[in-house]
Amino acid sequence: MVCVTPEQIDQYHDDGVLVLPDFVSADRCDRLRERAEEIMAAFDPRRDRSLFTTDETTRQADEVFLASASGIHCFLEPAALDEQGELTVPQALAVNKIGHALHDLDPEFEAFSYSPELARLATDLGLRDAVALQSMYLCKQPRFGGEVGCHQDATFLYTEPVTVTGFWFALEDATVENGCLWAAPGQHRSPLRQRYDRSPQGGASFVTLCDDPLPAPPDDLVPLEVSAGTVVVLHGLLPHWSGVNTSARSRHAYSLHCVSASAHYPTTNWLQRRSDLPLRRLDHRGVAA
Ligand code: FE2
Repeated sequence: MVCVTPEQIDQYHDDGVLVLPDFVSADRCDRLRERAEEIMAAFDPRRDRSLFTTDETTRQADEVFLASASGIHCFLEPAALDEQGELTVPQALAVNKIGHALHDLDPEFEAFSYSPELARLATDLGLRDAVALQSMYLCKQPRFGGEVGCHQDATFLYTEPVTVTGFWFALEDATVENGCLWAAPGQHRSPLRQRYDRSPQGGASFVTLCDDPLPAPPDDLVPLEVSAGTVVVLHGLLPHWSGVNTSARSRHAYSLHCVSASAHYPTTNWLQRRSDLPLRRLDHRGVAA
């Protein structure tokens, strides 16, 4: 088990980001990648098509997107479709991400997400009563895996107070060339700029809370180049970004976002679970009934 030191805990609170190499074994990285490839192979894009645009201002908030809060859905890369909406690359290379309840619906991702090691890490970093809210398998495909605009995770997963914490697991080496994370250490102390809220008319849209600009990528950010097996922990207010994958190598990662069960979770958040799929504590396996 990887244990964080007091110095690393201090660093996380100072920077809003912590990089822990060797958190995930090579075997586990392989198993998660293989399982994701099975899910992508079984996906039928003609039956269940939905784009996930990584331009935050034009994100489509369609019914499929909202329903994916309680499901496992493959979202396609816009760059993988022609003007008629047909795939221009093999299906395995067309998926941008899989979301958003892998951790509760797929046994392989469930076993990984609810590990004692992760529950311990969340506790050590000060996240109390952590529940697993959202999971994403992020593909960042070779040559055209798209940019994810600079954002704060609390925009999408808002609680009062802000508690969302991102655990980003590199399942392959992540470099500047294949689209690693970039972040602005220390800027988790800056205000939340936007919320992504459900609207009464359906769908969801951005609501501006603060006009302060987010850091401009890439100059205002630092790259977080990491090897496979690393976990990057991100404070919910920390601005972060990733660029286009310009390389011939994919950059697969798994991301799990947790919030504190004791914080208020608004009904206006885009992510609302079905009542028959309640959120679970990260440590539920280690808690006596
Ligand atoms: Fe994020």
